[in-house]
Amino acid sequence: MNVEKLLHMKGGAGDLSYAANSKHQAKAILNIRPMLEKAMIEVHKHLPEKMVVADLGCSSGPNTFLMLTEVMKTIGKQCQRLGVEPPEMLFFLNDLPGNDFNTLFQSINVFEESVRAEKDAMSVPHFIAGLPGSFYRRLFPSQSVHIFHSSYSLHWISQVPEGLESKGEHTSPNKGNIYIGKTSPPLVVKLHQDQFQRDFSVFLKSRFDELVPGGQIVLTFLGRNKVDIYNGEMSTIWGLVSESLNSMVLEGLVEEGTLDSFNLPHYAPSIEEAKAVINEQSLFQIINIQMFESNLDPYDDSDDDFVFDNIQSGANFATTIRSVLEPMIASHFGATIVDELFSRLAMNAANHLLKEKAKFAVLALCLKKKKNRYLSCDHHVVK
Ligand SMILES: C[S@@+](CC[C@H](N)C(=O)[O-])C[C@H]1O[C@@H](n2cnc3c(N)ncnc32)[C@H](O)[C@@H]1O
Repeated sequence: MNVEKLLHMKGGAGDLSYAANSKHQAKAILNIRPMLEKAMIEVHKHLPEKMVVADLGCSSGPNTFLMLTEVMKTIGKQCQRLGVEPPEMLFFLNDLPGNDFNTLFQSINVFEESVRAEKDAMSVPHFIAGLPGSFYRRLFPSQSVHIFHSSYSLHWISQVPEGLESKGEHTSPNKGNIYIGKTSPPLVVKLHQDQFQRDFSVFLKSRFDELVPGGQIVLTFLGRNKVDIYNGEMSTIWGLVSESLNSMVLEGLVEEGTLDSFNLPHYAPSIEEAKAVINEQSLFQIINIQMFESNLDPYDDSDDDFVFDNIQSGANFATTIRSVLEPMIASHFGATIVDELFSRLAMNAANHLLKEKAKFAVLALCLKKKKNRYLSCDHHVVK
């Protein structure tokens, strides 16, 4: 799978678009608001005249502007408190080239109207630019960015780990699964972990080079709270999609080989796994690291284990997942299976919710660049 070409959320602003179905991701941005505010204030202490903020994996929809709003409000209020002029701010919105940048750019006017309506609270001079490209390589000149923000994106790894896909004579060791599942052999786990470690290292090295001294990174991405990797939150969630695809194989609606050659370019690490990569590189100080949970149904904000309406929750969950997976599924299996697959997913999720109130586990972390003890000589290194 060519991830850079095929990975993107469902574009536009229709009922099934990512823009209309990203409530989970909005909650993550709101959850880490205090972390982002703290990082902004800390970086602003040096009173820069200009500040560059980059959102990596911005997608297209209200969440992108939610992040801009949070940042501008924080800086606006801080400058009022200090009685200083706000810096000029340059925002870079980054995503892979297949992202719906058209819809994103067309929404900028609406955002600017909301900025004008807020008056003082957001009166920060600002500029917005789009930046297509993978965050698994250098995206900016050295020491040019003050803050990186990335929400719900880093669990997408740069490629399906080599050795997973069935090709010709080589059958996939991950038969019947699209991620690490209960029947995946240990090799499949190792291939995912190795790919995550390589990718996260490249990500951190690239950001280290690009950050100004004292610059910070605020990240959220899907992780794993459960110790048993086979029972990890995302194994359960992607397992529901595998189950739906397998039932379609049994009925002859999907070819077995087509399913066996499909794996998600995804890995959800534990806190320890993420920490190990950060500490091994020793490029960043960990300011804050935590995990929070979110219900499968984005409209269910309860903290208990009670499922009020499993059918509705299953449907809400399936629509959310569809807005993320549809482009990849349609490209691999063909657009004709999409409606049937996600209606089966809604049913499987509804049944699962009767047994267990499964959750997403979200890793949140804030990192501060250590003094320049590393500077890459190759600015275009990817692998
Ligand atoms: C679930 S969306 C999150 C969007 C937004 N940050 C939010 O919180 O709603 C994940 C985004 O990450 C992007 N993405 C994944 N891998 C990427 C990469 N290597 N470089 C840039 N963007 C990437 C995807 O294209 C997608 O738009």
